[in-house]
Amino acid sequence: MPRQHVTTHIAIIAGVCICLLMYLSWSGSKELPATSAQPAAAAVLEFDSPGSALAVVNKHRPLPADYIPQDLADAAGVPLRAEAAAAYLQMAAEAGATGVPISAVSGFRTGGEQEHLYTSYTDSFGPEAADSISARPGYSEHQTGLAIDIANPDGTCGLESCFAETLAGSWAATNAQHYGFIIRYPAGAEHITGYAHEPWHLRYVGTEHARTMHEAGTTLEEFLGLPAAPGY
Ligand code: DAL
Ligand code: ZN
Repeated sequence: MPRQHVTTHIAIIAGVCICLLMYLSWSGSKELPATSAQPAAAAVLEFDSPGSALAVVNKHRPLPADYIPQDLADAAGVPLRAEAAAAYLQMAAEAGATGVPISAVSGFRTGGEQEHLYTSYTDSFGPEAADSISARPGYSEHQTGLAIDIANPDGTCGLESCFAETLAGSWAATNAQHYGFIIRYPAGAEHITGYAHEPWHLRYVGTEHARTMHEAGTTLEEFLGLPAAPGY
């Protein structure tokens, strides 16, 4: 083949390769997941329905008194919605495999069970203190079947703020997002969530939203652009 033709062929092949690379890079960037930490209210996110993974239950937003999710499953001894239970079991197994045992303390609670619990807190601490640590019946997201309280199996700092500094508490604060859970009542957010820091109370919202909230450091209310709910 004449030398001039060889050069022309090489130039054409190089040109095609460059075009291909440019196309691949363009189509790849289109598919990158959104990393924006903006409030997601503008997107179509369902948070009114008790059955939604993004359901918001707080002091302004009660559940129907008799609400019971229909797909409860076992999550290491406590009931949770099926998707949340599967996520919890995977999280606990993987935490355990890295030397961090985690146990489940409380999952789904009926309105009646919440009433019993809330009354025990008011009897022990009075109504004001009770309202900062326990939801009134009908106002607990435990009733959605999407919330779970976790613990160290040896009971260290069980349901106490020092849980955050324990093995299970610090592991969950960093890693729960990867399994779709958020720390629903973070430190310093009582004026938004209505509750004191509960490093043991995890709320399932799905992995995509959990990661976004974790990275942005926002509460569920802020993420959805909803008003703060410090009181009833
Ligand atoms: N401890 C949380 C706020 C509840 O009772 O649902
Ligand atoms: Zn809880």
